[in-house]
Amino acid sequence: MKGVILAGGLGSRLHPLTKVTNKHLLPVYEKPMVYYPIECLVNAGIEDILLVTGGNSAGDFLRLLENGTDFGLKRIHYAYQRGEGGIAAALKLAEDFAGGEKICVVLGDNIIEKNIRKAAEDFEAQEKGAKILLKEVEDPHRFGVATIQDGKVLEIEEKPKDPKTNLAVIGIYMYDPQVFEFIEELKPSKRGELEITDVNNAYIRQGTMSYEVLDGWWTDAGTFDSLLRANEMVANGGANKMDD
Ligand code: DAU
Repeated sequence: MKGVILAGGLGSRLHPLTKVTNKHLLPVYEKPMVYYPIECLVNAGIEDILLVTGGNSAGDFLRLLENGTDFGLKRIHYAYQRGEGGIAAALKLAEDFAGGEKICVVLGDNIIEKNIRKAAEDFEAQEKGAKILLKEVEDPHRFGVATIQDGKVLEIEEKPKDPKTNLAVIGIYMYDPQVFEFIEELKPSKRGELEITDVNNAYIRQGTMSYEVLDGWWTDAGTFDSLLRANEMVANGGANKMDD
């Protein structure tokens, strides 16, 4: 399975921190934010990685990460997203890189405590479709929220005002090559973006979406509060731990 990190977007919720630099280059405790999703993929045994970025300071990723040797990689592939067309629009740029293989997509501002090795292995063995990871949270209205029935995902609502559950869809997604066909059919949402939740709902309608509940803490880092939380979580116990 190949890996894709989405680190585009304008990070406007973090202005003025992101006025001159890219959100994913901001520090989270002792490392730049983008280090964490890279480590997450490497820990899952994924070594063929594409980083999609855009906006401010896109060239700084090359200076920072070089060929990825600090992570034990031979090289990192890069793609550039113009504007802020949404997570699914950024993912579309990975189509040639994926080359018909399964992919594991990690949002550049998502950080986890443990690792996704088992989930990645399970998805390798899944015949087709997609897999999402869920986590119980106190503030589900900030996220994609999943409803589960009889061990299946019924639907995902993007940032609902009245969430039906407290199960957030975290920013780690596993897809088969059909993902690019689903993206092709998307229409922009009310916020003018191609939504990853619409892609996930297409798999749910097809009956090929599986899920797991993540073990250990998870946070995003795209708002002032969640960036602070990410710093605290990493400082207090570390991220991307290999031990189960
Ligand atoms: O963190 C998990 C949540 O991420 C999910 O629960 C939601 O369903 C999903 O829509 C997403 O929500 P956000 O609104 O928080 O996503 P945000 O716009 O902050 O983008 C998250 C990352 O995706 C960002 O760090 C970089 C990447 N991205 C985003 C956009 C809009 C891109 O690469 N390009 C883009 O155009």
